Amino acid sequence: MSTSPLLKVESLSKRFGGNQAVDHVNFEMPEGIILGLIGPNGSGKTTVLNMLSGILKSDEGAIYLQSQEISKLKPSALARLGVMRMFQMTRVFSRISSFDNLLIAGQAVGVSFKEAVEIADQLIAELELEAVKFLDAGQLSGGQKKLLEFGMCFMRSPKLALLDEPFAAVHPQMRETMVNFIHERHRQGHSFLLVSHDMPIVQQLCSECICMNTGQVIAQGTTKEVLSNPLVIEAYLGGEHV
Ligand SMILES: Nc1ncnc2c1ncn2[C@@H]1O[C@H](COP(=O)(O)OP(=O)(O)O)[C@@H](O)[C@H]1O
Ligand SMILES: [Mg+2]
Repeated sequence: MSTSPLLKVESLSKRFGGNQAVDHVNFEMPEGIILGLIGPNGSGKTTVLNMLSGILKSDEGAIYLQSQEISKLKPSALARLGVMRMFQMTRVFSRISSFDNLLIAGQAVGVSFKEAVEIADQLIAELELEAVKFLDAGQLSGGQKKLLEFGMCFMRSPKLALLDEPFAAVHPQMRETMVNFIHERHRQGHSFLLVSHDMPIVQQLCSECICMNTGQVIAQGTTKEVLSNPLVIEAYLGGEHV
């Protein structure tokens, strides 16, 4: 097994006008963990995920996936390398069925049609979407759309799944389905970078965490250490919006 980290981020920075949204962020992520990325609203978490998934170009810094520099790659190239992104705002094709959404997602990452049908069926069962399998995705509830988007990221097992607040505004029952899905995939050795405000779930799922505030990493370590770090507590209490 390779000893290089799955993901290495070096001095990653992004500025929007006068706003330094991400300010020289450094971290490493070993393979096979669920790494939590927490921090108050506006601290730069989504911007980090946007750079990791190739949606935004960084101003500075470098990103390595298993020692390969991926900083300049487009989302499609990153998806082929196994970096999949789930959005804070759900993105599904609303005028085709849930099942077809999965097939299209599979096709986009080079899965054959026959294989895609099998995997899609399995994901539909795992994500408890049987009742809406042939319904246009536009008719799904917010939570069901998130579950479907989850499935779309897993048509070919990603090396690294980037999840941006997947549990926000999702019905508790579907939240549990999602948590179980992440748990099970983690047990199989998959790696996740999880942005979430849901601290009980972060504690349950993530062995390690990074906390950002105003674009900078202010703490990293075990989730227990990070959540009890005074800087982290102050960042959450001191912000305008928690
Ligand atoms: N596309 C953008 N254009 C201008 N400012 C942005 C853009 N995206 C994010 N920002 C700003 O960057 C900062 C970090 O935002 P974001 O990464 O969304 O934070 P988080 O996900 O932690 O809530 C915020 O101040 C936000 O207003
Ligand atoms: Mg965000």
